[in-house]
Amino acid sequence: MRMELTGHAVIVTGSSSGIGAAVARRLAGLGAGIVVNSARSAEAGRRVAAELADAVYVQGDIGAPGTAAALVAAAQQRWGRLDGLVNNAGRTVDVPLQDFASVTADHWDQVLRTNVVGTFLVSQAALPLLRAAPDGWIVNITSLAGMRQTGSSLPHAVSKAAVNHLTTIMARFAGGGVRVNAVAPGLVATPWTADWADRKAAVERAAPLHRVATPDDIAEACLAVIATRYATGQTFLVDGGLGLMI
Ligand SMILES: NC(=O)c1ccc[n+]([C@@H]2O[C@H](COP(=O)([O-])OP(=O)(O)OC[C@H]3O[C@@H](n4cnc5c(N)ncnc54)[C@H](OP(=O)(O)O)[C@@H]3O)[C@@H](O)[C@H]2O)c1
Repeated sequence: MRMELTGHAVIVTGSSSGIGAAVARRLAGLGAGIVVNSARSAEAGRRVAAELADAVYVQGDIGAPGTAAALVAAAQQRWGRLDGLVNNAGRTVDVPLQDFASVTADHWDQVLRTNVVGTFLVSQAALPLLRAAPDGWIVNITSLAGMRQTGSSLPHAVSKAAVNHLTTIMARFAGGGVRVNAVAPGLVATPWTADWADRKAAVERAAPLHRVATPDDIAEACLAVIATRYATGQTFLVDGGLGLMI
């Protein structure tokens, strides 16, 4: 199956590296114009945008005032439309999941502000144009950590559970035929997990598919969800079967 996205416009948040960059490349390869975004790594974001056939780069923290509107305005100005939004930007804190004593209110604020509030704000700003599109859609990148008792930190895990639920509520009430789904990866080899040799070895041992994911595995799952035109409110777990073992 090959989707045709020529003439479509898509925002991919957090697309300067890892999963977001892979998703941006795959969507651009199918013909879509892409708004590439990151908060800090502007040079890397500009590089990703420059290698795509038709893209603009917008620097901005998705949780900060004004970024959501700037992302949507960039699509509107360049292509006069918006067909899709991939809410991929996310962060965690360096506190093990079970170390409740070390989690601070500041950790919660940082992680929820990006992963939940930022995801919501960009979706909110995008919805009017997505409703006007012939087949508007949102894909939220969540996590196995939002569905099982695992993951990089407690705030990250809880934030991803929140976005899985946000996905169902937005799917119910988005209107305009806009589909809202989530893709929930297990462990993916990206800059985020570059130092996780032990955890990767554990996944390779335990998961039925005996490997960690590549960013492109997750991009493929996003394409499958985007191409599945009669599904909404779903979370697609893409974890090599790891969740079966936890
Ligand atoms: N890697 C995994 O094993 C894994 C597993 C499950 C889920 N996920 C999810 O997948 C998503 C991408 O992760 P990744 O592994 O690809 O990480 P990554 O390579 O570190 O990429 C994260 C991207 O998000 C951007 N970003 C972070 N905070 C942002 C903010 N507030 N506003 C705008 N952009 C922001 C980063 O750019 P700057 O930092 O320069 O802003 C970067 O472009 C995250 O939502 C993560 O929770 C990852």
